[in-house]
Amino acid sequence: MKPLCIDLCCGSGGWTAGFMAEDYDVIGFDIEPLAAYPAQLVLQDVRTLIGSQFARATVIVASPPCEQFSRHAMPWTRKRNPPEPDLTIVEACWRIAREAGVPMIVENVRAAQAWLGTARAHVGPFYLWGDVPAILPVVIPERKKESFGSKQRLERARVPLELARYIARTFRPESKENAA
Ligand SMILES: C[S@@+](CC[C@H](N)C(=O)[O-])C[C@H]1O[C@@H](n2cnc3c(N)ncnc32)[C@H](O)[C@@H]1O
Repeated sequence: MKPLCIDLCCGSGGWTAGFMAEDYDVIGFDIEPLAAYPAQLVLQDVRTLIGSQFARATVIVASPPCEQFSRHAMPWTRKRNPPEPDLTIVEACWRIAREAGVPMIVENVRAAQAWLGTARAHVGPFYLWGDVPAILPVVIPERKKESFGSKQRLERARVPLELARYIARTFRPESKENAA
């Protein structure tokens, strides 16, 4: 049986593509249907998930929406006094991993540190919390066009393949990086 990865708030599937390339089965959860998503997609608000159903997973990855954190980092939106970010999605992700008893990596933007605490590491603009490997690859994300359309936003938020593949390898049960 292949190792299983659960991708919460999977978007267009950056994490998913990397884990699939490393021969994992992946199930993604999102509230938006994306035709190009490469694995089994469940359309469900992650806040309604019970984590214990994922006890057989090897790892859970989560990329909760970042817009509300980013608004506090950009001077032109900060000066409009944006509301405090809604943490219910991030908190649900941590709860799910706890209930599953499975390691988790949460990915988000630098500005999220003000609410989530200092990230364990970052690879370019991708900040990581949770069970992050001690050593990470240097990945230079492809420069995406600055544009605020929702398609471009999703593209910019897509986890780079190289980073996702590297992390997938570190969690494989037979991985040397994982050996005691
Ligand atoms: C930052 S994007 C994910 C990017 C993704 N990791 C990738 O590589 O493409 C955040 C995603 O969270 C989804 N989302 C927002 N609220 C959600 C919720 N309550 N439950 C599940 N997914 C949600 C959005 O639809 C969006 O696709």
